[in-house]
Amino acid sequence: TTRSLLILPGDGIGPEVMAEVRKVIDWLGAKRDLAFEVSEDLVGGCAYDKHGTPLHDDTMAKAQEVDAVLLGAVGGPKYDDLDFSVKPERGLLRLRKEMDLFANLRPAQCFDALADFSSLKRDVVSGLDIMIVRELTSGVYFGEPRGIFEEGNERVGINTQRYTESEIDRVARAAFDLAMKRGKKLCSMEKANVMESGILWREVVTRVGADYPEVELSHMYADAGAMQLTRWPKQFDVIVTDNLFGDLLSDLAAMLTGSLGMLPSASLGAPMENGRPKALYEPVHGSAPDIAGQGKANPIACILSFAMALRYSFDLGEEAARVEGAVEAVLAKGLRTADLLGEEGVSPVSTAEMGDAVIA
Ligand code: NAI
Ligand code: MG
Repeated sequence: TTRSLLILPGDGIGPEVMAEVRKVIDWLGAKRDLAFEVSEDLVGGCAYDKHGTPLHDDTMAKAQEVDAVLLGAVGGPKYDDLDFSVKPERGLLRLRKEMDLFANLRPAQCFDALADFSSLKRDVVSGLDIMIVRELTSGVYFGEPRGIFEEGNERVGINTQRYTESEIDRVARAAFDLAMKRGKKLCSMEKANVMESGILWREVVTRVGADYPEVELSHMYADAGAMQLTRWPKQFDVIVTDNLFGDLLSDLAAMLTGSLGMLPSASLGAPMENGRPKALYEPVHGSAPDIAGQGKANPIACILSFAMALRYSFDLGEEAARVEGAVEAVLAKGLRTADLLGEEGVSPVSTAEMGDAVIA
């Protein structure tokens, strides 16, 4: 099998954290005999500097062909005053839109060594490993009609929650597929008690579930879900929800685990001819201009994003677990990049030292 990967390091700390992912890729090739066809290209401000656009058409075309795209981060103060149409984040938005990445995966994983970083009690979060799947391309952020209209002698602001059966079906399938690669437990969250789109959501998810008899499916109202996520998050494995609820619930879940420098993400689209879904993997954090170029960035979010690619694009779950295990071991040993400092008397390691430790 071939495994093709397009790497887009981007701006700021993007190239710094991506260099550490390169070490993991090289290690897999050398020690595990797993070869990746890697190509690298520009996105964001650096692409604008060279081509006058944050994403060149050739790069877009390449992204459509590879098994997975891995992106660092885009943006920076140098580009803040650019016209909206060529801003660095437009490069990222174009990728998401043209690849039609409708399922946004946000894991909340809490390594024991960092449990004290959580806003919750240690035993509630230690060892937590859940995944929120948020529908990303439809729902109330996109539904028509929308706008601010005159109505009588005042104005009215209108947004429309709208989901078709096929939109629900495809994100549900993505979530069930993930559940099959994880703990085979899926909880769907909506508000079927007060929203028609929620009634349809529940019905379609239940119907799709018939194709996945091994997965234990449950349903929860999204407000109760928020409560349960903070009360006892370990009761969940995979959660699937719509765009609006997913926006809130995934940010909430992120804070269960602590630092921005630790959070990976993925966005998946429809299966390609080879059965693999279109996929873009990226850390949740941005280009961190305040620490860029200083060797201070935490590469773990980007390394864990690549681990997600191993599991969800390349069916290399065991290798993904090996990478995650290495991260866990390094943290347990007490290695900390500057963003993870808390304990007295610990001096931070550099980006490269953290990457080297993960490899070791
Ligand atoms: P940011 O995520 O870049 O930084 C927020 C804070 O977290 C900063 O203090 C930063 O030093 C720290 N931080 C972030 N990642 C870190 C890491 N890996 N290791 C250690 N510390 C880390 O968000 P901010 O400052 O709001 O945005 C900076 C630039 O990044 C802007 O141009 C923004 O548009 C862009 N951005 C890009 C994103 C992307 O490429 N997906 C996402 C968010 C912001
Ligand atoms: Mg948000």
